[in-house]
Amino acid sequence: MVATELVNPFRQGLRVDRATEPCQLVIFGASGDLTHRKLLPAIYNLAQAQLLPAAFSVTGFARQAMDDAQFRSLLATAVAESGEVRRRDQQTLEELEQRVHYVSGDFHDPTAYTALKAALERSDADYGTGGNRIFYIATPASLYVDIVEKLHAAGLVAQHGASASFVRVVVEKPFGRNLTSARSLDKELLDYLCEDQVYRIDHYLGKETVQNILVFRFANGIFEPIWNRRYVDNVQITVAESLGIESRGSFYEETGVVRDIIQNHALQLMSLVAMEPPTTFDARDFRDEKIRVIEAIKPLGAASLAQSAVRGQYGPGYVAGESVAGYRQEDGVALDSITPTYAALRFFVDNWRWADVPFYVRSGKRLPKRTSEIAIHFKQAPHLPFRKTQVGELTSNVLALSIQPNEAITLRFGAKVPGPSMRVRSVAMDFGYGAAFGAEESSAYERLILDCMKGDQTLFDRADGVEAAWSLLDPVLAAWDADRAVAFPNYAAGTWGPPEADRLLAQDGRQWRHL
Ligand code: BG6
Repeated sequence: MVATELVNPFRQGLRVDRATEPCQLVIFGASGDLTHRKLLPAIYNLAQAQLLPAAFSVTGFARQAMDDAQFRSLLATAVAESGEVRRRDQQTLEELEQRVHYVSGDFHDPTAYTALKAALERSDADYGTGGNRIFYIATPASLYVDIVEKLHAAGLVAQHGASASFVRVVVEKPFGRNLTSARSLDKELLDYLCEDQVYRIDHYLGKETVQNILVFRFANGIFEPIWNRRYVDNVQITVAESLGIESRGSFYEETGVVRDIIQNHALQLMSLVAMEPPTTFDARDFRDEKIRVIEAIKPLGAASLAQSAVRGQYGPGYVAGESVAGYRQEDGVALDSITPTYAALRFFVDNWRWADVPFYVRSGKRLPKRTSEIAIHFKQAPHLPFRKTQVGELTSNVLALSIQPNEAITLRFGAKVPGPSMRVRSVAMDFGYGAAFGAEESSAYERLILDCMKGDQTLFDRADGVEAAWSLLDPVLAAWDADRAVAFPNYAAGTWGPPEADRLLAQDGRQWRHL
């Protein structure tokens, strides 16, 4: 008998398993919020799990004057305060602290980069990191190009292949604020770097539950045959937050929900749900398929915008019983701001698999709760033989992939209510991550920092993917910016967005899933 090998994109693991190499991690914006809340706890967790390379060091760089000791105590505080640290042990912390340094300087000042270079060379000598460097730029996006240009001028970034050691640069979203600025950002970065040195982080791709979408779809034979327009009626993607804009008023005024969430996190979720199976999970195959989905989405032209896109902004209200301010009352926000804090959009993916299946995507701040999920709504059974019974409660099957905070997969189906009549009720079959594996999840940043150390770009954005997402959303942003006559606020904090969002689905005879 001839042995046949099934096409299995997992044959090399979800990611090509590579070893981490010795390296230095250099954080720009080391005194900032992202470093404190996400990066330092993630590095500590990696140290605690013994996943860091033996030859490793961290150097923080920022304007704030600080010495090594002060930066180390910042690390200790970040670890103590973070809800993402799984196990606190003093020995790991002390060992890590030994490898942590700080250089203070102005991001625009070339001499600061000379001092940085000297510090990095000292660390290479002390820790055996061999000149391998990861520059993690956790600053406002307006500084990205200047930092990379100054690094280049100081001789700290050689293009890949020009030296035996590696240089990788990690940048945080937003990558640009529209197609034109994203293109020029990419062009400017690529003046100094090769594409395979640029790691564009979208932390949603680092979440375990997001990666599980791929495993769920492509490691199980039973779902793929029904994952298409013959069986799927619509797909609903929700990224809901109960938080407001915290202390980020001026950032959010410039950003808004489309740039903050839809252009990146929400479209990533959509592309994982809708993509074709990649041949392998190497960075090229996987990202090619993901980007094809975004490129296949029907453009939202001016004519279809009113039927396809809804914007909202929260007014005062109550979240979890607490009275909260409206968006326009937040610090750093204009009293007549038209920045949307909520958006709902209807997309169609114009390809053989998905033609005519709507993908409804919504996200907002100050909604009743924090929850992200993808719900696949299947078509009703073609014939219901229960005509004489009470089947009003029979709803269609829904498969919900919950990303957070309850990491779960739920399938809703009709079941017979016990008793003499043929009554049907929708019930749920649940899989809970925690209960099944018992393991504590690693944070998205841990996974992504580790992948960067391994030189694996699979879970990072590629320039053409970022640009495809902007091409899709630019018309929406332009139309909304041009039309200032919008009656904001149009939803109260603590509610599920403006009534128009319900009408978006009602026009198609559908409604949002009750979360
Ligand atoms: C960030 C946005 O990218 O994602 C924030 O800038 C948002 O506004 C956050 O709150 C949500 O991330 P998570 O992991 O909490 O869903």
